Amino acid sequence: MAPSIIESPAGEITVPIKTDPRIADSNPKARVRRVIDEEGGNTTASYPAYLPTWDYGEKYPPLEPFTHVDHGKDADTSLKDLLSEGSKIQKITPTIGSEVTGIQLSKLTSAGKDQLALLVAQRKVVAFRDQDLASLPIEEALEFGGYFGRHHIHPTSGSPEGYPEIHLVHRHNNDWGLDQFLAGKNSSVSWHSDVTYEQQPPGTTFLYILDGPEVGGDTVFVDQVEAYNRLSPALKERLHGLKAVHSGVEQAEFSLSRGGVVRREPVKNEHPLVRTHPATGEKALFVNAGFTRSIVGLKKEESDALLGFLLAHIGRGIDYQARIRWAPKTVVVWDNRITAHSAVVDWVTGERRHLARITPQAERPYETPYIAEAEQAKV
Ligand SMILES: [Fe+2]
Repeated sequence: MAPSIIESPAGEITVPIKTDPRIADSNPKARVRRVIDEEGGNTTASYPAYLPTWDYGEKYPPLEPFTHVDHGKDADTSLKDLLSEGSKIQKITPTIGSEVTGIQLSKLTSAGKDQLALLVAQRKVVAFRDQDLASLPIEEALEFGGYFGRHHIHPTSGSPEGYPEIHLVHRHNNDWGLDQFLAGKNSSVSWHSDVTYEQQPPGTTFLYILDGPEVGGDTVFVDQVEAYNRLSPALKERLHGLKAVHSGVEQAEFSLSRGGVVRREPVKNEHPLVRTHPATGEKALFVNAGFTRSIVGLKKEESDALLGFLLAHIGRGIDYQARIRWAPKTVVVWDNRITAHSAVVDWVTGERRHLARITPQAERPYETPYIAEAEQAKV
């Protein structure tokens, strides 16, 4: 596999720091590893209940297919139950990203949640400020997120004890793993869409901050609808009908190599290269550097060349990307079907960056036929 195609084996997963020679492993046979224990039984984390744990006894069967209902589809396009009186919405860039203040996500009615799914599909990523999601009991946060689809349980990442449905991103004290990573790479940028190796990858996805550095640790999102739109009609037409292999195998191997868990056997799935969003009808490039490995039916050199072009095109498109700066109490909601993202690991202060993700799964990716631009104009 060409190294340019696998940017990172992992996306953003939280693995134990077992292999860090600076950390004494007091009980290597423990069934459950807890960061709180590794921090000496007390912690400076603002939300200790959210610190990662890994339960080596947890094993899950393969995921079963389910019928996903996309709530954005029938939402009231006025968004009046979401953007209620006193709220403010501002675009971050013309095509991708908005910022909202003056609403409380956890208090939304069903109509408001439907409109949230639609707004996020339209804007690709939306940052909501001054939210109470992190302060709610974890059950309530999960109940809120469960409205948008079946909770995904990550096969490898650390989670709060007893809540495997919560995916955690955690870096503290200049985690040794990053030093190791940067020893072999020039940049921490690692574009991916979350867990696209699943048959039904996530749709409306929530990430909320628990602790973060004063400066740094932003998350960048790329608009894969606009990335598709920028292609020539000839290339768009050629991409339609092609499928790509998305693999979770390397992520599982990465986790095992770091002393982590594999709670569910890794899977590979084939998805269309161009998928259609069920609520907006927009078409998006559906490939990402984290998990897309090859294009079905092409020879290796052809597949590497075409994927290499598409991934470079997505990664360099600063004119269709949005950079989100975290602030305390921020919840970022994105549509994982039509975006890719990367953390920006640029702070070396030792400050903790700790985020929780709620990851509702959506429909199996599907495509609709290519429409020539002259035809599209008439629609
Ligand atoms: Fe991610």
